[in-house]
Amino acid sequence: MGGKTLTVGVVGVGRWGPNHVRNFNGIPGCRVKAVADPDGPRRDSIVNSYPGVEAHEDAGRVIGDPAVDAVVVATPTSTHYRLVKAALEAGKHVLCEKPLAADSGQSWELAALAEKHRRRLMVGHVFLFNPGIDYLAAAARNGEAGKLYYISAVRTNLGPFRYDVNAAWDLASHDIYILNHLAAGRPESAAAVGGRYLQDSLEDIVFLTLRYPGGLLGHIHVSWLDPKKVRQITLVGENKMITWDDLGSPGPVAVYDRKVTREPRYRTFGEFQLLSREGDVILPRIPSREPLMAQSLAFFKRCLGEQEDVRGSAKEGAEVVDILEAASRSLADGGRMTEVAYGG
Ligand SMILES: NC(=O)c1ccc[n+]([C@@H]2O[C@H](COP(=O)([O-])OP(=O)(O)OC[C@H]3O[C@@H](n4cnc5c(N)ncnc54)[C@H](O)[C@@H]3O)[C@@H](O)[C@H]2O)c1
Repeated sequence: MGGKTLTVGVVGVGRWGPNHVRNFNGIPGCRVKAVADPDGPRRDSIVNSYPGVEAHEDAGRVIGDPAVDAVVVATPTSTHYRLVKAALEAGKHVLCEKPLAADSGQSWELAALAEKHRRRLMVGHVFLFNPGIDYLAAAARNGEAGKLYYISAVRTNLGPFRYDVNAAWDLASHDIYILNHLAAGRPESAAAVGGRYLQDSLEDIVFLTLRYPGGLLGHIHVSWLDPKKVRQITLVGENKMITWDDLGSPGPVAVYDRKVTREPRYRTFGEFQLLSREGDVILPRIPSREPLMAQSLAFFKRCLGEQEDVRGSAKEGAEVVDILEAASRSLADGGRMTEVAYGG
């Protein structure tokens, strides 16, 4: 890699890949040289918007291009392992879309491969670069919320549908990462129930419960069979309750000065009381910035050796896959609370 520049190739330019092309092309010192996709009209659309970019049918042409320093993999989940492995073995840095792979053993193998080849492998858990989520994480860490009781997340919409992984792997992969970030930890066990209404073998809707050390509970409701697009998180702590609504107006975050205390003195069980305190609701100013651009910049800096892996590391991405696997085992076992086996 010469000087402070990075040449990028993007594999998969369906709905999401073009956003990577736009963002990496917008970073000074960074250039998208080539894309690959078997879909001709999608390739044409990239070439029309970015006339200098080469478009190939075969991913091997991008991965094998010696002028390409880093490869973005934005293809269906079931193809991630093969493409990421090939790119790392070709000596490229890789930004892989979430989830890292469709299998935990494969995820850890990719993480180890990146270390072996001394290449950056980042997973596109883009909500970790969302300023509203930053606010929640700060409130969870700096004591503003107090001891965390539970966090619940809702991520629904009508589509887009997937044909290789269920709604948990597709959508809850985001929320698992967010909840781990807010909890500053990882769940010990997971339980999931779901429904297959549109396809015989894939759940369109999943209710996932996560148990973290110390009693913190997480709950995630994901669906691609829902009338409303919702992206919400509710964090309930001992001192404050905080909500995030990515699509909310006037802002995404609301801090509720609400808490419940126990009446400290009572003589009989009949006098025991829980007292709720209803204070102000504050809407903090949350800076507006495109999370994907922040993620692209972080990857760019990591590839140039200017930033450490702080968010979206391969290890954290592989842990999300471990949790998804526990959720899949629970789904197959009638929703039983299932221990998460970390490490593939
Ligand atoms: N971070 C986010 O918020 C976010 C949002 C949407 C999608 N995604 C992720 O991005 C990935 C792609 O999602 P999408 O919505 O763009 O899917 P999509 O189906 O719209 O596009 C995938 C594209 O990959 C192409 N493709 C398939 N196999 C290929 C191969 N071997 N080589 C090159 N191209 C190939 C397909 O032809 C298609 O154009 C998924 O992993 C998804 O989870 C992430």
